[in-house]
Amino acid sequence: MSPWWRHAVIYQVYVRSFADSDGDGIGDLPGVRSRLPYLRDLGVDALWLNPFYPSPQADAGYDVSDYRDVDPRFGALADAEALIADAHAYGLRVIFDLVPNHTSDEHPWFRAALAAPPGSRERARYLFRDGRGSLPPNNWASAFGGRAWTQVADGQWYLHLFAPQQPDLDWTNDEVREEFRSILRFWLDRGVDGFRVDVAHGLAKDPEMPDLGAGQATSGPAVAGHPHWDLDEVHDVYRSWRRISDGYPGDRTFVGEIWVADPARLARYLRPDELHTAFNFTFLLAPWEAGALRRAVDESMQALTAVGAPATWVLSNHDVIRHVTRYGGGATGVRRARAAALLMLALPGGAYVYQGEELGLPEVTDLPAELRQDPTFLRTRGADPGRDGCRVPLPWSGTAPPFGFGPGTAWLPQPAEWARLTVDRQAGDPASMLSLYRSALRHRATVPALTEGPLGWLPADGDVLAFDRGPGFVCVVNAGDRPAAAPDRVRGARLLLSSDPLGGNGVLPPDTAAWYIAEL
Ligand code: GLC
Repeated sequence: MSPWWRHAVIYQVYVRSFADSDGDGIGDLPGVRSRLPYLRDLGVDALWLNPFYPSPQADAGYDVSDYRDVDPRFGALADAEALIADAHAYGLRVIFDLVPNHTSDEHPWFRAALAAPPGSRERARYLFRDGRGSLPPNNWASAFGGRAWTQVADGQWYLHLFAPQQPDLDWTNDEVREEFRSILRFWLDRGVDGFRVDVAHGLAKDPEMPDLGAGQATSGPAVAGHPHWDLDEVHDVYRSWRRISDGYPGDRTFVGEIWVADPARLARYLRPDELHTAFNFTFLLAPWEAGALRRAVDESMQALTAVGAPATWVLSNHDVIRHVTRYGGGATGVRRARAAALLMLALPGGAYVYQGEELGLPEVTDLPAELRQDPTFLRTRGADPGRDGCRVPLPWSGTAPPFGFGPGTAWLPQPAEWARLTVDRQAGDPASMLSLYRSALRHRATVPALTEGPLGWLPADGDVLAFDRGPGFVCVVNAGDRPAAAPDRVRGARLLLSSDPLGGNGVLPPDTAAWYIAEL
């Protein structure tokens, strides 16, 4: 068997919205620990936890003020250690979130930088620059809206590609590099199985800091030649990290968050001496359309095969609109999400399941403005609704909010209709989304072709995707709006699972996927 991270299904735990143990309305690490049996029963291999470190929470924890501790809102360091131990006892691996591009403005380093003069060692850990007259050093924009520079009392400006409370570090600085190597060791020594690397394509900046030109945006997948995304210098950092992780037993791993337009550029991060995997946003961004999905799969696989890296497939995360809604919402969105789950889990490589995806949760679009917390919403004055709608706390049980999320309330209100979508309600219903995920993950664990078999496309009509994974297993997806005949290959094959009931003679209704065990 290949190392676990080459084919793992990793469940993304958005800690503040997963389970709350103490009634403050915010999920926490003891809450995660209490729900580990749920994750084991779901059948995933590992969890990735979003940041839980001490943080003023200007960007939901992606503004870290201490990389080696746990924020009191989420528990204590001992809870993180106990979580790793418990998860391992359940056979689950644990990945933490590392935020190297920027710290919080309350990090001791940044406070020291503000107190120190221009040109000092303290300022050199960040990207302080003089302005152009009364203007900032260049025209770079924050990914959350507004400019990427904030002026300090003595007139210098500091760079923040995200919120002003997230000053960017200078990765040409040896102290910065050494500090992060030490942070990696701190958590690796405590048994963590890997790290998700936040904004992994952002660490290096063009030292000339030229203005963004036409067609060079801050948001969206980066294109070649960008002055602060995807610079070649960034790879050096990952090579040095890989040397550290390789020194530990037990297949420790990195997964990069890398938004680049060209899959070949993505693959560069996954060369054998760099990161192990990266989220595949090409797949996530593809519309629900057979041609586009197949292109996304082919382009990703081709680029990754060239460097020997496995693919990872992602449908949703804490930064994007939930895919039930993206795929059309309502009954159509749910049908497509069911089919998409079987497509994703049948592809070679690893997959990520964002909490609540297994419950078929839709995006919550009508959150009151005064409750929204995403800096994107605040910095664009609501022009961009931001990401709170995919971060609403999970419904576990009961018929009224907070649906078993915790003993108090929930930091964002859950829709009353989620009474139909609770874990308890779905667990007993064989037709539920939860039951579909459980069955699919069970088969994935027991059908070897799903882990090791190569992907081979089968001939199929326009709206249908059909492929095998070696001779024994076939997946067919009808992404069109008309029923489609199953390809010849599955005549006489045994149906393992379908996202919705099939018609007579194996006909696939619109937006339906099916898994077959084919005769050899
Ligand atoms: C990543 C995170 C996102 C965060 C940003 C800044 O994109 O996924 O949630 O806001 O980095 O750290």
